[in-house]
Amino acid sequence: METAIEVKGLRKSYKDAEVLKGVDFNVRRGEIFALLGSNGAGKTTIVRILTTLLKQGGGTAVVNGFDVASNPENVRHAISLTGQFAAVDEILTGRENLILIAKLRHLKHPRQVADDMLKRFGLTDAADRKASTYSGGMRRRLDIALSLVGNPRIIFLDEPTTGLDPEARIEVWKTVKELADGGTTIFLTTQYLEEAEQLADRIAILHEGRIITNGTLEELKKLFPPAKVEYVEKQPSLEEIFLAIIGNKEGK
Ligand SMILES: Nc1ncnc2c1ncn2[C@@H]1O[C@H](COP(=O)(O)OP(=O)(O)O)[C@@H](O)[C@H]1O
Ligand SMILES: [Mg+2]
Repeated sequence: METAIEVKGLRKSYKDAEVLKGVDFNVRRGEIFALLGSNGAGKTTIVRILTTLLKQGGGTAVVNGFDVASNPENVRHAISLTGQFAAVDEILTGRENLILIAKLRHLKHPRQVADDMLKRFGLTDAADRKASTYSGGMRRRLDIALSLVGNPRIIFLDEPTTGLDPEARIEVWKTVKELADGGTTIFLTTQYLEEAEQLADRIAILHEGRIITNGTLEELKKLFPPAKVEYVEKQPSLEEIFLAIIGNKEGK
């Protein structure tokens, strides 16, 4: 199994606060990996380290075969990042935003690249409208399209649906699934159990500075045998699993 991201013993402190206390996980090529954790758990800190924007305090992280600390340039060539807050320029149209990024990345045919992306993300009809007129879902789709210009092998989506209404959230989910179907490795963070459940091939739960559990939804469900009610098996939801784990950790 080819590994896209390999994280071992990752540590990070801000002043006296130890946010990451030895984080370990692997992401496989082509999968959707969800890092699940509550607000302040350290998700963005991990994303910033993996995308070379922040130095770790200890441990190692290898992205697309390159160490983030010793080889950040090569890591940057292989990845893209979409943050919690959109990078879209509101004054420009969707098309102009895409052309701008394609030019910044020194691609050969920026217009063609923009047209392809607009088509792929269902934004052709809105291409020549200012991004400020887009709905939340359209804006996030444009944001993801911008991060895909240049065909990165691994994309990082930090809370891609936080702040979106339910309809826009479903739009983004669809986009993420299509990207994964196209072979892109996707590392996403979320506070929403349902999002991880809907999208992820594998899920890691970050809690109090460590990964407390990691696996497929099926594997996580196996940790908690279904309660049998007469003849009907009830499968635990990810939320029940999460609460049971957190409860166990905090109870002792
Ligand atoms: N630059 C910083 N300086 C000090 N503390 C920070 C800084 N960035 C994040 N933190 C703290 O580290 C913790 C984890 O933050 P973050 O990685 O943003 O969490 P998440 O993305 O899971 O919400 C939080 O308690 C946050 O307040
Ligand atoms: Mg965050």
